Amino acid sequence: MKPIALTGIKPTGNPHIGNYLGMYRPALDLMENYQGMYFVADYHALTTMRDAQKLRDLVYEVAASWLALGLDPEKAIFFRQSDIPEIPEFAWILACFTSKGLLNRAHAYKDAVDTNLANNHDPDEGINSGLFYYPVLMAADILLYGSAVVPVGLDQKQHIEITRDIAEAFNRSYGNVLTVPEGIIQESVKKVPGLDGRKMSKSYDNVIPIFATEKQVRKQVMRIVTDSKRPEDPKDPEGDNLFSLLQFFAAPDRLEEIRQLYVNGGAAYGDLKKELAALILDEFAEPREKFNALIADKAKLDQILNDGAQKARAIAKPVLAKTRKVTGID
Ligand code: ADP
Ligand code: TRP
Repeated sequence: MKPIALTGIKPTGNPHIGNYLGMYRPALDLMENYQGMYFVADYHALTTMRDAQKLRDLVYEVAASWLALGLDPEKAIFFRQSDIPEIPEFAWILACFTSKGLLNRAHAYKDAVDTNLANNHDPDEGINSGLFYYPVLMAADILLYGSAVVPVGLDQKQHIEITRDIAEAFNRSYGNVLTVPEGIIQESVKKVPGLDGRKMSKSYDNVIPIFATEKQVRKQVMRIVTDSKRPEDPKDPEGDNLFSLLQFFAAPDRLEEIRQLYVNGGAAYGDLKKELAALILDEFAEPREKFNALIADKAKLDQILNDGAQKARAIAKPVLAKTRKVTGID
């Protein structure tokens, strides 16, 4: 078997083209050289989610998104975190090798404490232990399958370092039992700009969603912020967010033509937005159809996720068994 590349996906739903270019595509490209393992991190979502139906719906949405965007469940192992009963057991064992100070310094927890202190509240007010324990659960996700590499965004870098620390601490006591993973941090991926030129992000409400209706996609593209130059005015393509977005979707020849129109005059923003909308709709036409079919067939999604969980557990069981044995828990 090829070395394992594993990544967890928080069920947040409704992916946008920034997510696709920054995360989905690079993670899926790894399947060439690795055995891909992808899972929906629903236990992690429970640190913040309090709406049961919403959580269930989001798990299906994110699963359908990955499958629609090219995850092949015959090749990759695709599953739901909570379908793996070995995970919480393994996480407990790992917690016993995790210094509390390491978790005190984890960004998400530390930020929450700092916010409380800045507001003159008790440092731990409103913070559940799940949030504090989050990095241990994530280490369990990674180490349980002997993952070689973990592709993640820059915001997850510290979690990979904590995972490595935990694995090394465990191995110091019992020898080389756990595989110390490498993070593949997608620093080089260009930040995809949103409608207003800031990073495209759900939190800025500046996204172009992938699985919205054609009308919604067109509407969002028409909202891209441009300056007040007239079509005949020369413009600088660098740093122009309409041009930046065109760069991701236009064919090289056409992009060069558009660049010339910017530099020499002749680029009409309205027409270029229509062109961009058509390119995006075309690029995601097939995924959109697949997504709609999958989301209407929950039984099929359940079956894919269950099959994936069986395969994942087959990899997990020997690792957990060895961990139990060396620690004396068996
Ligand atoms: P959002 O900012 O919309 O909440 P997330 O934080 O859920 O998005 O992003 C998930 C992953 O998608 C990130 O780790 C990152 O790799 C990728 N990503 C998100 N937005 C962008 C973007 N604008 N450009 C490139 N990659 C992005
Ligand atoms: N914490 C990750 C995020 O917020 C999701 C995640 C959970 C994960 N377990 C993982 C990522 C294991 C990689 C490997 O995006």
